[in-house]
Amino acid sequence: MDPLSAHIKNLREDFMKGSLNEAEMPQSPAAFFSIWMQQAVAAQTPEVQAMTLCTASPDGKPTSRVVYLREFEENRFTFYTNYLSRKGKQLQENPFAAISFFWPDLERQIHIEGTVEVAPTEQSNLYFNSRPVSSQIGAWASNQSQPIPSREFLEQKVTQLSTQFKDKPVPRPDHWGGYTLIANRFEFWQGRKSRLHDRVEYRLENDLWVKSRLSP
Ligand SMILES: Cc1cc2nc3c(=O)[nH]c(=O)nc-3n(C[C@H](O)[C@H](O)[C@H](O)COP(=O)(O)O)c2cc1C
Repeated sequence: MDPLSAHIKNLREDFMKGSLNEAEMPQSPAAFFSIWMQQAVAAQTPEVQAMTLCTASPDGKPTSRVVYLREFEENRFTFYTNYLSRKGKQLQENPFAAISFFWPDLERQIHIEGTVEVAPTEQSNLYFNSRPVSSQIGAWASNQSQPIPSREFLEQKVTQLSTQFKDKPVPRPDHWGGYTLIANRFEFWQGRKSRLHDRVEYRLENDLWVKSRLSP
């Protein structure tokens, strides 16, 4: 076995920092998510808002990538992207998606599953207008997920758009905006010693959240 594979094979971490007691957790998973997010922010967890987003093609082929969570309220989680990107095309045809957070310093992960809707235009406009101009121009410059001939091609496009929009507000492109995942399942995972981790699932059944402890 090559040394790198051997090294990875022997990496082991015992998780000791916390525990989960389903009896003490609130009925609302969104309330618990908010508590964990606040704790992760307070702990200065790096890239706390980064989440792996999984989408799938209509025939069930999954894909994943990291995006930033930008807004959350109750069971609604909003991220922003290019609607014509690979994920955007998948979501258009198959609205089922999942997001996951991993916060290694807190030894926690969260999985959230649900269906995705395009965010209201007004919400996307507000967020787009709050972004730095360079990011706004980037949204125009990038046909996200499409092949391009070179790095220079992209940079030239940015230069050209910067001249075009000089001293003018950059409007939100129609192909760029928010998606909101509406959750019907949450799972909170706290690492424990010897792989005996705590896992608590909330499933939405007939408009009520049903809580269960899962085997690690
Ligand atoms: C930390 C991090 C944050 C990211 N945030 C976003 C984001 O909020 N929106 C986005 O469209 N892409 C984001 N990306 C880039 C995506 O991971 C991905 O490359 C891009 O959205 C194209 O994905 P797709 O081809 O599957 O549609 C981020 C990447 C990283 C590593």
